Amino acid sequence: MPQIAFLYLCANISYKEMPVLAFPHYFSGNAHVYFMNKIVTLSLSMLCCFGTSCCLEAQSLLPKPQSAAFQKGTFSTAKPFAVNNEAGDMARNLYTAPLIEKKSADSKGRAAVFRKSDAAKGREAYRLRVTADSIIVEAAAAEGFLRAGQTLGQLAATASKTAALPSYPCCTITDAAAFEWRGMMLDVSRHFFPIDFLKKQIDVMARYKLNRLHLHLTDAAGWRMEIKRYPRLTRLGAWRTDASWKKWWNGDRGYVEEGQPGANGGYYTQDQLRELVDYAAERGVTIVPEIEMPAHSEEALTAYPEYSCTHEPYKQADFCPGNAGVYDFLENVLLEVMDVFPSKDIHVGGDEAGKASWGNCPLCQRKMREEGLKDVNQLQASLIRHFEQFLESHGRHLIGWDEIVEDNLQKNTNVMVWRNVDESKKAIAAGNRVILSPGKFCYLDSYQDAPPTQPEAQGNLWTEYVPTAEHAEYMLYPRVLAIAEIGWNGTKKKDFADFRRRALNESELLRGKGVNAFDLKGEIGERPERSRAVKHNALQAKVAYNAPYGKPYPAAGETALTDGLQGGWTYGDGRWQGFIGKEGLDVTIDLGKARTVSSVAATFMQVCGAEIYFPASFSVAVSADGKAFKEIYLSENTVEKTDKPGFRTEQFKGRGAKARFVRVKALPGAFGGWLFTDEIIVK
Ligand code: ACM
Ligand code: ZN
Repeated sequence: MPQIAFLYLCANISYKEMPVLAFPHYFSGNAHVYFMNKIVTLSLSMLCCFGTSCCLEAQSLLPKPQSAAFQKGTFSTAKPFAVNNEAGDMARNLYTAPLIEKKSADSKGRAAVFRKSDAAKGREAYRLRVTADSIIVEAAAAEGFLRAGQTLGQLAATASKTAALPSYPCCTITDAAAFEWRGMMLDVSRHFFPIDFLKKQIDVMARYKLNRLHLHLTDAAGWRMEIKRYPRLTRLGAWRTDASWKKWWNGDRGYVEEGQPGANGGYYTQDQLRELVDYAAERGVTIVPEIEMPAHSEEALTAYPEYSCTHEPYKQADFCPGNAGVYDFLENVLLEVMDVFPSKDIHVGGDEAGKASWGNCPLCQRKMREEGLKDVNQLQASLIRHFEQFLESHGRHLIGWDEIVEDNLQKNTNVMVWRNVDESKKAIAAGNRVILSPGKFCYLDSYQDAPPTQPEAQGNLWTEYVPTAEHAEYMLYPRVLAIAEIGWNGTKKKDFADFRRRALNESELLRGKGVNAFDLKGEIGERPERSRAVKHNALQAKVAYNAPYGKPYPAAGETALTDGLQGGWTYGDGRWQGFIGKEGLDVTIDLGKARTVSSVAATFMQVCGAEIYFPASFSVAVSADGKAFKEIYLSENTVEKTDKPGFRTEQFKGRGAKARFVRVKALPGAFGGWLFTDEIIVK
């Protein structure tokens, strides 16, 4: 299934290029999506929409409102009675003052009324009524007025496609957010993106009512936020020897002093980030900073090696949790982070700590003894608890990746689930709130269409393979729309066909407005072989595994290779069976009785980034009794690494050999790695 189908879908627009509309109607976009709620589900089957809304306008809004009814007629005005900022000001005034009603009328007396009302339940909820004479917006808080403005922006765009001036279709909309946290994450460490690019993404996000931009600001590949107290974090840690993450990671992984020849990278000054925070806030978007600890910190620990266990630059990825100085250092960093980012939630990473140096480090060992910690996992938990308390003492809450679930989290701590949706159950059971961004569905750095047609990508790798701003937009849009749709409208009313139609409209709109969105119109979609069963003579035949398949990729287990079902574009789709080890694929198929075998074919996949390679040899042997085999085919290939994934079919074709048993072997080449195949087709 293409990833849009997993996710639903989405896209982006340049705010500056937007038609002038009477209300704030900002556009924005990127890659992760989160849903914060005590009860979080991400089932992707779909249901239906709202009985009352049947006209074009109703079908065009994205995300879809909770309830919308459209009537004949439009509200139109020769001169917009308010411009974006004015509406924004109204919302802000309503938020800060006990104002009941604020009106502005055009020369004909037609009015937009922003009315504070508790009838709209929830901070982002709103009620909107458009008639030929008026637009009435009711909300309980500024956020609600902003969201109503964003809806009006989309309505105006719809209604004014042919008209010179904006007009709004008559309608009644009652709307509210299903999930409090509707976000996307940008990894600005692996590749650095300029501040204007971030603003453009915020514009797109706002159009789709996304409200959290999570910036992954630090990682081995570059520290991206100016920290005044520790200038080497950016003087050295923000600059590396190669612009391409892939070349750098596979090369020397070196850092270079700022301004020196060959320094690639960059960072945001605190002034730039403050301006960005304001820009986002005006559009209803909170920027959530992420500072990684204790792991993913090679750049920080090369700039300040005294904070790793061994004090050696270039050697460690993890901070030393046994060193009191580390806590001072990270607290000082977080103080500056909190000074720049007003976000209630501060992300401290917490994922993928190797912890290897902790076992041999006297300071770590002493801390474990003193605190009665029984292993290095508890040592990490102790560090996380320290920073939970530190952030709470400053009125903030900690967010961490799901590894932090380990133990005893504070109730205010939020867990960002990335490995597996099941991780959310543990966190919810412990009383914590969960933000869902399971890699399988929400990591938008993976392929979004037939991999051989797409730029290099890989699941769970963020911007490692996304070197430019244009490429980032291509990966983000329109997929982010899926996140926006589910995040706002919820999971209960999903209708993929309806969503796709709206996403297609938005995709085209975004592309027209200078956003480098993937061309959804030209989507290839699913691998054709996946959607039709294949008939052949070994269908349902018993398969004996002379070498086992790899446990993580069983597909349908012992029936996988003769069930008539072929795989899609990705090896993780449950149809591809994986083989790891020297013996590769080695199976014997029992046809049940002697048959003429004139063709034996198997398709293999190559995805070098995932260490999946074509086989170096493919052989077919036949036997009457399953004991004495005669080889009837052998092909040998040199396995070569490729940037793009590919598929290769190996096939014996001959005049035919009479046999009951067919033994098929495929051996790995010099790179080792995995072999993947989906069906052995015998004719
Ligand atoms: C992650 O992808 N390591 C959070
Ligand atoms: Zn240590």
